[in-house]
Amino acid sequence: MSDTRPIGIFDSGVGGLTVVGEIRKILPREEMIYFGDTARVPYGTKSKETVTRFSVENVEFLMKHNVKLVVVACNTASSLSLDFLKRCFRVPIIGVIEPGAKGAVSSTRNGRIGVIGTQATISSGAYERQIRKLRPDVRVFCRSCPMFVPLVEEGWLGKRVTAEIASIYLAPLRKKGVDTVVLGCTHYPLLKKVIGKAMGRGVRLIDSAREVAAGVKDLLDASGLLNDTGKGKKSRFFVSDEPGRFARMGERFLHRKIECAKRAE
Ligand code: DGL
Repeated sequence: MSDTRPIGIFDSGVGGLTVVGEIRKILPREEMIYFGDTARVPYGTKSKETVTRFSVENVEFLMKHNVKLVVVACNTASSLSLDFLKRCFRVPIIGVIEPGAKGAVSSTRNGRIGVIGTQATISSGAYERQIRKLRPDVRVFCRSCPMFVPLVEEGWLGKRVTAEIASIYLAPLRKKGVDTVVLGCTHYPLLKKVIGKAMGRGVRLIDSAREVAAGVKDLLDASGLLNDTGKGKKSRFFVSDEPGRFARMGERFLHRKIECAKRAE
């Protein structure tokens, strides 16, 4: 059996392209429809009620494109709204928290895990809950790093100021002796080098984008929804604000040109 319908992915903006990149690596035949809510980004500072309302609208948009699965690429939306979305829609929906938590639990050797993300993700406690559900004996230490998103969007990946900010944000996790850190935000994979250096040798970084891609593959496979006929069509990108800035910035997240970003109708 083969299902050629596209996979729908949404994020608050451009960051979810890290998830698109990872899915493309392991599922090159799948067509993807991406929606970035660039008119209303950031989600990381907003309330559960607001993020959930936006998330419902984002899934409704993707449903118009006849998607076979929805991936909530945004860590904030996954933390605050996934349960509600699953209750509202019949299409399978996967978020980044569970796959990221699984990755962290199988990585840790000393049972001490750090989680970093936006303010909303961290104060929701979603990662902590999920990790402790999988392994109740693990200690979880969380830290929000609100300046990381603007630094990545500015492209300041190699600047000294970014390394300094990382060192300040991550000092409490370093002190706790974590051996694993979950990168619980779409933008953080671009800061892997900086975060790795600030945490020091031997600390493993769990990329939630990579983990969810593996989860998407397993889910499609288990439900007989994989597209295994020939080559997939090109992915399409939609945004809620003007597409120029998204396309320019998106190239850094996706490591390739985004030719066809459109404003969602
Ligand atoms: N996409 C968001 C996340 O992964 C980061 C940007 C935002 O705050 O909207 O949490």
